[in-house]
Amino acid sequence: MSDGQQSKSSGRSVQRSLELAERARKLVPGASHTGSKSPKQFVQGVSPTHIQRAEGSRLWDVDDNEYVDCNAALGPVLLGHSYPDVTEVVADQIQDGTMYTMEHPLHVEVAELISDMVPCAEKVTFAKSGNDVTTLAAKVARAYTDRDVIATQGYHGWPDVWFSDNENLDAGIPDVIGEYTESFEYNDIESIERIFEEHPDDVAAIVTTPVNLDPPEDEFLQRLREIADREGAVLVFDEVLTGFRFAPGGAQEYFGVTPDLACFAKAMANGYSISALAGKRDVMDVIARDDFFYSMTYAGDAATLAAAKATLTVQREENVHEHIFEIGEQLRDGYNDLAAELGLDDVTEANGYPPRFSIGFSGDRVAGPSEDEVHVGRVLETLFMQEAHKRGVLFTGPHIPTYSHTEDDVDEILHTYRECLGVLDDAIESGDVESYLEGELVGASLRERTGDD
Ligand SMILES: Cc1ncc(COP(=O)(O)O)c(C=O)c1O
Repeated sequence: MSDGQQSKSSGRSVQRSLELAERARKLVPGASHTGSKSPKQFVQGVSPTHIQRAEGSRLWDVDDNEYVDCNAALGPVLLGHSYPDVTEVVADQIQDGTMYTMEHPLHVEVAELISDMVPCAEKVTFAKSGNDVTTLAAKVARAYTDRDVIATQGYHGWPDVWFSDNENLDAGIPDVIGEYTESFEYNDIESIERIFEEHPDDVAAIVTTPVNLDPPEDEFLQRLREIADREGAVLVFDEVLTGFRFAPGGAQEYFGVTPDLACFAKAMANGYSISALAGKRDVMDVIARDDFFYSMTYAGDAATLAAAKATLTVQREENVHEHIFEIGEQLRDGYNDLAAELGLDDVTEANGYPPRFSIGFSGDRVAGPSEDEVHVGRVLETLFMQEAHKRGVLFTGPHIPTYSHTEDDVDEILHTYRECLGVLDDAIESGDVESYLEGELVGASLRERTGDD
């Protein structure tokens, strides 16, 4: 885009965003702390990079452009931005202080709530992020079984244990750690059985996201439960994304399979930083053993626990999940109907469960004989994102609806997507899709780099 920073068709300016991104680039490696919020994940030059404020289903960027939010801050915002039930209790709690020499009563109250809601949660402990509790789960499983190998599938955060056998992302991790992490494929029972054959009596845990974009097939989760029981391994569900989003009891309630340990974070406190490891009593009790060490100064601060209590209470008392499924289904299916109507269903498709679905693009039909289909798919994705952001619909990666999204929001998003797909159609017809781009191509997402969805 030109220096005027006015996007062609909307007249919107993202000038201040671009200035902030430039300042951030000088000081912050990668310009953001989360790969998925990196400017590379947006259409640099067209998309905003910094958000000023948010309310309900709406966001305003630093140039005061308004957007319907389709990302829920990558998952944590379950009820909607600045949801009054949550912000009021946090504001009250702050008046009384947030960190003390001993625990606040909310510590017990929130643990009791989680224990009531989540099938596996006989005991609960708190931390701050998803990384904390997935890594704690691996350590607990190793101590509980006195075994070393972790069999894993899906994204669980940045610590060594999760990336040590991924040669694309293993910089900074000693080779020896890779000997203790083995990856398997979702829905591929043979790939997990192989790990047990290769490491007899040494697999401490099966760690899996209960669901990715594809549904579990052939009772995949039940079979993992059976294998874990047969082999004496700990079954861990990483419910950082699915917890409190698929059902009050998470994906384990939704799919009816109870793990030994489960990790929760996003959606637990509507955006405040808290996570929880929950699980069977005997496994969780490892944390209190004299030879086991787990400690975290900021875990369980009272303001965040107040946010968690309010968020968990709203979802127990209201039809939060039903609403989120309905909105997600209308958006996902509405998008696929539009693509079919415009003859673009071989180019783009929305898939995944309604609480978190993705819109994908394929370059197969559009790529010329000398063009790379993957690159052309990325050009199409970038063009769609560019047109959506210019028109005030904000997404990166998956679509994640909240309890605050209304049917009017769905109509507005689908109306916008119809226009965006129209531009895509014109661009494809022209034979030069790339000439429609006003900013830089979006980069590969972390999930693409890791092979997860
Ligand atoms: C399934 C899953 N596990 C773990 C994590 C890491 O959580 P956090 O970024 O809060 O540390 C994520 C983050 O996206 C996730 O999606």
